[in-house]
Amino acid sequence: MTSATKVPFLDLVTPHQELRAELLEVIEKALNTAGFIGGPMLEEFEREFAQFCDAKQCIGVNSGTDALRFAFMAAGVEQGDIVVTVPHTFIATTEAISQAGAHLAFVDIDQSTYTMDPEKLREYLEIHCEFDNKRGKLIERGSKRPVSAVVPVHLYGQTADMDPIMELAARYNLIVVEDACQAHGAEYFSKRDNVWKKAGSMGRAAAFSFYPGKNLGACGEAGAITTNDDAMAQRMKVIRDHGQAKKYYHDIEGYNGRLDSIQAGMLSVKLRRLGEWNESRRELAHRYHELFAEAKDSIIVPREAPWTRGVYHLYVVRVQDRGALQTHLGEAAIGTGIHYPIPLHLQKAYQHLGYKKGDFPVTELVATEIVSLPMFPQLTQNQQKEVVSRVMEFVLSKVGASC
Ligand SMILES: Cc1ncc(COP(=O)(O)O)c(C=O)c1O
Repeated sequence: MTSATKVPFLDLVTPHQELRAELLEVIEKALNTAGFIGGPMLEEFEREFAQFCDAKQCIGVNSGTDALRFAFMAAGVEQGDIVVTVPHTFIATTEAISQAGAHLAFVDIDQSTYTMDPEKLREYLEIHCEFDNKRGKLIERGSKRPVSAVVPVHLYGQTADMDPIMELAARYNLIVVEDACQAHGAEYFSKRDNVWKKAGSMGRAAAFSFYPGKNLGACGEAGAITTNDDAMAQRMKVIRDHGQAKKYYHDIEGYNGRLDSIQAGMLSVKLRRLGEWNESRRELAHRYHELFAEAKDSIIVPREAPWTRGVYHLYVVRVQDRGALQTHLGEAAIGTGIHYPIPLHLQKAYQHLGYKKGDFPVTELVATEIVSLPMFPQLTQNQQKEVVSRVMEFVLSKVGASC
């Protein structure tokens, strides 16, 4: 290993080079048949991805953001309703809620899994809301708005703790839409049902992103919704296609939100490799855990809760002074990221909601300490060792400095 070893944060070139012939075949097929929109490649991918997620239906759409928005609309979230989610997620989760005409409410995350804390959800529903028997709905006391849905985000490739969330949702008649945009293939052990369940098979619907850097990424923009509800699937097909089930017969105003056939065909090619890629991510994560063991409390490595089998979309550690760590790694040509530096409730875009610093302390603490290290299936052992040795170098210099 030389000091010149470069480690990208993500390598998107190698997997596409490996699959080049199969991917080009998809383009050839589309060119030869002019099958660009809809058709067999889309239908085949939808069937395969539904099966992969243990869901009855999959509806291909053009992004994870639209997948969420269409799911809210088709599930019956209405203008002015409240949808509850976490402030520690990518803004697309909350953009989709607002774009569906709903209002946001946040609850904090759990400090070891970084996903929705079911206890915080319970507190919000029990303390800040009351059931209106006349309307048959849960109402937020302050705003008097009905609370209609909850969005657990399976962040970094690990599912939220779904049993208690599903129980609360059932008790208060809330729609659950999983944000599975970072969790293709992640699993959750439901103690209630004594069975492992796939991300995308638990809520009323689930949204997936196939943005190129995701565990299953397209060669452009793409997304999908999975559901076990046939009627809802049909509504989402109509919404994604200008509100028409039959060409030029528009039952509602919809969107141009379709998944194009070339992307669908390419996703089918890559889906065949997803199991192997996810396994490789899990092995890399476990090796990172082991190699960082001697750093003890100086680095908090991701904790995989016993009820989850994560797919490590990201490998996120927590350290003091993460800006200096990023600089140190940058000087060694090692790529890093921060997912995400500013909690959503403190973003300028949400100033009007009136949240303030201190409202979600776990999210706020985590946001100051997290760093995402290189994580992709083709990361070599040497590259990984280089990352670890540079991180350890940094951590030990800090320990030395404080002695
Ligand atoms: C948690 C989460 N939700 C939603 C999205 C939105 O997906 P897309 O970029 O495909 O619209 C993303 C994508 O980065 C995401 O990470």
